[in-house]
Amino acid sequence: MRCLASAGVWLSHGVCAPRESVVTPHFAERMDLVQPSAIRELLALGADPSIISFGGGYPDALLFPKDQLEAVFREVIQQPGGAAMQYAPSVGLPRLREQVAALMTADGTPCTAADVLILQGSQQGLDFAARMLVDPGDVIIAEDPTFLGALIAFNPSQPRYAAVPMDGEGMRMDLLEAALQTNRKVRMIYTVPDFQNPTGVTLSVARRQRLIELAEAYDVIVLEDTPYRHIRFAGETLPTLKSLDRSGRVIHLGSFSKVLVPGLRIGWAIAAPVLLERMGLLKVAQDTQTSTLNMAAASLFLDRYDLGAHITGLRAAYRRKKEVMLDAIRQHFPQEVTVTDPEGGLFTWATFPDGFDAAVFMLDVALPQARVAYVPGGSFFAVTQRANHARINFSAPSEDRIREGIAALGRALKAYPIP
Ligand SMILES: Cc1ncc(COP(=O)(O)O)c(C=O)c1O
Repeated sequence: MRCLASAGVWLSHGVCAPRESVVTPHFAERMDLVQPSAIRELLALGADPSIISFGGGYPDALLFPKDQLEAVFREVIQQPGGAAMQYAPSVGLPRLREQVAALMTADGTPCTAADVLILQGSQQGLDFAARMLVDPGDVIIAEDPTFLGALIAFNPSQPRYAAVPMDGEGMRMDLLEAALQTNRKVRMIYTVPDFQNPTGVTLSVARRQRLIELAEAYDVIVLEDTPYRHIRFAGETLPTLKSLDRSGRVIHLGSFSKVLVPGLRIGWAIAAPVLLERMGLLKVAQDTQTSTLNMAAASLFLDRYDLGAHITGLRAAYRRKKEVMLDAIRQHFPQEVTVTDPEGGLFTWATFPDGFDAAVFMLDVALPQARVAYVPGGSFFAVTQRANHARINFSAPSEDRIREGIAALGRALKAYPIP
């Protein structure tokens, strides 16, 4: 038998080991910006089960509708003609597109199946939007801080970033306007308006309206990313940017990852035909289509079960976990540390005093001593990293682990010389 790794060698105990690489490939320039993220390495350290992890952006696996998913997968596999196991239209299964359009319409963003492109998670839409709109050196405006996964998706398009600071109402519109005035070739404003990742902050209605006005005035496309939108546990639902859009300049991204299960990898884009068609072409080029089986199962789930009722349960569970976490933080953290109190989503964002480095603290103290992980905030900044922040997830750990982990973190913080 040959050793299959072409440059590999057989070791004496029958293992094929790669020989040290002898090639020096010429990588495309865009690969300069495709680098492993520091948080992956830190999170890998936090994967030890003895560590309480507030790191990932994971939904609570105990809330996954396992039995219902098992039933729909079983049923779609048995469908006559094997339709669910066959290739499908690259824009998505017609029934699922209709269902997504109905969900969007019920949420105040009227659209039809023709306006929907089914994606392999909303992450794919981030990649498509940048590849469709951004040439090297063009500018993407993003919140400061912003979703790290979006930067990872945008980077291969070699953008420059303009980062717009936020306050308790989301991206600051005076500073957005300044960024639009001072930067040439702004191709896209990227925003997570509902319970932003990483801060948990929601963009106010007045700012949503202003953002659309500014996008109009400066003729820029808006990329609205809403995976947490339906995980609201306080306050009123606010209109999507897409629903305020009069000229077809908003690309809206949605996802079943947080309201159903992320493993289905099903998200969607709603956009004007001129944009959606181009994204559809990128879809054909990239992966032909989203998994037929997963689309069919998601679609049958929506037909058979009450997604709204399932979401009501998720909201109650995450509201409770958020409260448990914030109560524990108030009780155990030093006074100087502030955290956001989100109305939904999966995260709170901690701000430590200037001079505190959350990455150093995690490696030196939180992981080895408190046995707790979070995501140090630095990587969420597109332009200038600020080290005195952390993103803390409350959806994945149990309430007991939240109490235990926050108490341990609080003790470690109090014993640490915070500047
Ligand atoms: C803000 C934001 N956008 C997009 C995604 C990607 O979600 P998915 O590809 O699972 O739909 C995530 C995932 O955590 C996210 O937090």
